[in-house]
Amino acid sequence: MDMNKIRNFVIIAHIDSGKSTLADRLLEITGTVDARHMVPQYLDKMDLERERGITIKMAPVRMSYKGYVLNLIDTPGHSDFSYEVSRALAAVEGAVLLIDGTKGIQAQTLSNLRAARKSGLRIIGAVNKIDLNLPYLEKTVKSAAELLDIKESDIFRISAKTGEGVEKLLEAVIENVPSPMRSHENGDDGDKNGALIFDSIYDDHKGILAFVRVFGGELKGGGEMMFLSNGSKYKSKEVGYFMPEFKVVPVISAGEIGYIATGLKEPSVVKIGDTITSAGVRTEAMPGYREPAPVVFISFYPDGVTKFEDLKKSLERLRLNDSALSFEPDANEALGRGLKVGFLGQLHFEITASRLQREFSLEFLTSFPSIAYRVLEGKSEKIIKQPQDFPEKPDRAWQPMIRLEILAPQKYLSDILNLKTVFDLNVLEIKNIGDNLIVIARMPLSELIRDFDDQLKSVSAGYASFSYELDGEEEADVEKLEILVVNEIIPALTRIVSRKDLEREGRATVERLKELLPKEQWTQPIQAKSMGRIIARETIPAMKKLLGSFGKTGGDRTRKMKLWKKQKRGKEKLKEMAKVRIPPETFREILKK
Ligand code: GTP
Repeated sequence: MDMNKIRNFVIIAHIDSGKSTLADRLLEITGTVDARHMVPQYLDKMDLERERGITIKMAPVRMSYKGYVLNLIDTPGHSDFSYEVSRALAAVEGAVLLIDGTKGIQAQTLSNLRAARKSGLRIIGAVNKIDLNLPYLEKTVKSAAELLDIKESDIFRISAKTGEGVEKLLEAVIENVPSPMRSHENGDDGDKNGALIFDSIYDDHKGILAFVRVFGGELKGGGEMMFLSNGSKYKSKEVGYFMPEFKVVPVISAGEIGYIATGLKEPSVVKIGDTITSAGVRTEAMPGYREPAPVVFISFYPDGVTKFEDLKKSLERLRLNDSALSFEPDANEALGRGLKVGFLGQLHFEITASRLQREFSLEFLTSFPSIAYRVLEGKSEKIIKQPQDFPEKPDRAWQPMIRLEILAPQKYLSDILNLKTVFDLNVLEIKNIGDNLIVIARMPLSELIRDFDDQLKSVSAGYASFSYELDGEEEADVEKLEILVVNEIIPALTRIVSRKDLEREGRATVERLKELLPKEQWTQPIQAKSMGRIIARETIPAMKKLLGSFGKTGGDRTRKMKLWKKQKRGKEKLKEMAKVRIPPETFREILKK
């Protein structure tokens, strides 16, 4: 393959800017997918992606156009999936930065742009949705030009929906994005050899498929391949392209994006970020990727017919396709053997839970989301990732902090600043960017899992967006809050709360539980406990009808037996209560302020 005729690029943007829709138009223009088979957001393959209208996974596709091979990787927009974006950036030379014309520049536009610049990519700016007769189109084009430091006339105006301007944009990709050859000659790729694994999935027949960008040399189907991280050698089953369906070819070579069917079944062998070379080629491993740091921890416990081993195996499979997942064993007195899973955010958790249910038909219970605290107790220092393990009286505790970048139209500034009354938000700086403001702030990470996202959206009529990164740690004034239902601690509901919010959170949780839990045949006290005392209490009364019928029974022995049996069943049910079945959505409900 002539490298001069290859262009590798990504589409990056804030969520919902129209990346997948633009990809659809490119697939049509290049005749990669014919009209009969076209469905909206073609590259969003998962049902979950289609239902929620979001891209979760990056999706590579190889297109042919006017004698060129164009390898496109569509990327997700939500910040929980930015690790997907960063891996795609390392596999390409150019990026189309798409801006939603109805919203203007948003937080993820900025953070993705920064990442693309860091990777040394050629960036092409485009404003989307011009079919909507945008009143502020010119202003948006102007801010985009300022952001990219180019002329306004170099910003493309397109409609991914109607296709207007898309062909011109594609021509510009060919014109401006360096070929792998050019970047080879100019840059640091010169002595790179082998193929970088940027993603992988599991196939029942072909084993693990490694998605690769070949930087130097070539890899043959059926040839020997070596994983540079540990020197292990195997024979590949086949190599191929993404058309977007898998298409087997004899060989993939320098500059190309494709896959290697490894035939391997063991997930730990194929590591994302590792370099594969063909046999006999000695070279340095490529830098690979920085391991993403999980920030939210949630424990999963098998339930119903699901066994612990099924849960573990399924998570291992899922990790092949979602390398940001991490997990470790965990045991809970009431809930048994489980796995503590680390996520990049709340949405990442919700998506993973849904995938485990749908793709693997698993049943499980989950704990409250928690972050990791560093705790000092006497002389011993521990990292506590689970609220149940948090000591009753720690000497000192520290929590992770984040640095937030909130982007919003100027008129919402005071409402955004007002969030300080609800969240522990420390505003550091306010900057202007066109008609927008950037508010830079610091906040404990724990606030993020308390519904910050929704609150920010609601005070700004959906116009504010934010991105964040971890930013060290600070001492935390926190306590353990436990919830008891019918005098049993519900371990999954234990959480760590800022001392000043303790009373309010305890009260809110018992009130919400009173609404959410079904009535039973007995009275159910619900209590919130902290520092050894009950701080809030509610009672769910027993079901009236049944109580009434007991009332009328008097001393009748058979009826007494029945009542006794009912109580016995009740006690068994109480044991079950230790496993109060709380689905992920309800956790979110309880966490809402
Ligand atoms: P994520 O991957 O989840 O970040 O979303 P995305 O950037 O891929 O956006 P997607 O293509 O899913 O489009 C988001 C919404 O905008 C959908 O409802 C599209 O139909 C709509 N949309 C995309 N492009 C256009 C456009 O040019 N005009 C109009 N009117 N709507 C558009």
